[in-house]
Amino acid sequence: MYNACLIGYGYWGEKLARNFKNSDYFNLKTIADLKKKNLVSAKKKFPLVSFYKDYKESINDSMLDLVIISTPTSSHYKIAKYSLENSKHVLIEKPMSLTLKEVTNLNKIAKKNKKMIFVDYPFLFSGTINYIKKIIDKKKFGKILEIESFREQAPIRKDANVIWDLGIHDISILTYLLKKNPYKIKTIIKKNFKNKLSDTAYFNLKYKDSINVLVKNSWVSPTKIRTFKIKFQKAILVCDENESIYKIKVYKNKSKDSWKEYKLEIPNIDLTEPLSKMTKYIFNSIKTNTNYLFENKFNEKITSLVEKINKNND
Ligand SMILES: NC(=O)c1ccc[n+]([C@@H]2O[C@H](COP(=O)([O-])OP(=O)(O)OC[C@H]3O[C@@H](n4cnc5c(N)ncnc54)[C@H](O)[C@@H]3O)[C@@H](O)[C@H]2O)c1
Repeated sequence: MYNACLIGYGYWGEKLARNFKNSDYFNLKTIADLKKKNLVSAKKKFPLVSFYKDYKESINDSMLDLVIISTPTSSHYKIAKYSLENSKHVLIEKPMSLTLKEVTNLNKIAKKNKKMIFVDYPFLFSGTINYIKKIIDKKKFGKILEIESFREQAPIRKDANVIWDLGIHDISILTYLLKKNPYKIKTIIKKNFKNKLSDTAYFNLKYKDSINVLVKNSWVSPTKIRTFKIKFQKAILVCDENESIYKIKVYKNKSKDSWKEYKLEIPNIDLTEPLSKMTKYIFNSIKTNTNYLFENKFNEKITSLVEKINKNND
């Protein structure tokens, strides 16, 4: 077992605390949060953990192996830097940072201190996306023609716009699945409310081999939408993360030349909570000193692409 500390016990931090505490791989030793009421609520659920207001005090335990950072995005860099410089591995919430410069810097600091950086892109650990990845890797339904992703309704953020907040999930999924960068980007960003960050965005990515991707992200929607659709040469796959069990439906073309008739298949999907799988991945990575998901500057690629999507605003 490795020892972990959590900084930021808010909406997402509570989920991380539960998953790390329940895992067979980590001992959650300390939790830090600036808000007293969040510490009081954490104490009720995790009575054996030590609590701090100051993140530095929480990290300054020589027995700690991993610092989990689930504070607002604008504070990720300073907390991650401090953790790495104090010889801890770090798990940083998405988005890791809003600038490529900071991400590159953290990677340098990690390398210098021989520590690893993990970022919580939960879909890399989900049964749905890993099912889709196998289909793509095996070319089961032929080439990909187009992808559509709709991600609507989420808490409004004060320090990261909707592309950094929701679009980054799409970018982490696309980079994981397609293993390449788009050559053309078109973005429309909308700010529907005064003095706030952009709450709605549409972007179109064109990849080599004629793959066309359309993404819509919006914080403001009366219904929660999480649909991801891939049109292959021989089938259309629809993934709806809101479904409790039957999250993926595959509509196979009935005949070679027709898109009019389909045969529906509903595959069994691994429904394990992605955060729970992430704890196992991090444990194995620390134990074996390997981190294959984040190799080849994965975090830099994602941050750089989200930066470009933001800049290509019409
Ligand atoms: N991976 C995902 O799917 C996912 C989902 C939701 C949120 N997130 C990310 O998680 C992070 C936190 O989001 P949230 O919704 O939990 O926000 P939140 O506001 O609910 O929680 C943040 C907590 O951090 C605390 N905090 C702030 N600065 C601190 C500091 N310097 N030291 C200690 N504690 C501090 C706050 O008091 C608060 O309790 C964000 O980066 C967000 O993008 C990721």
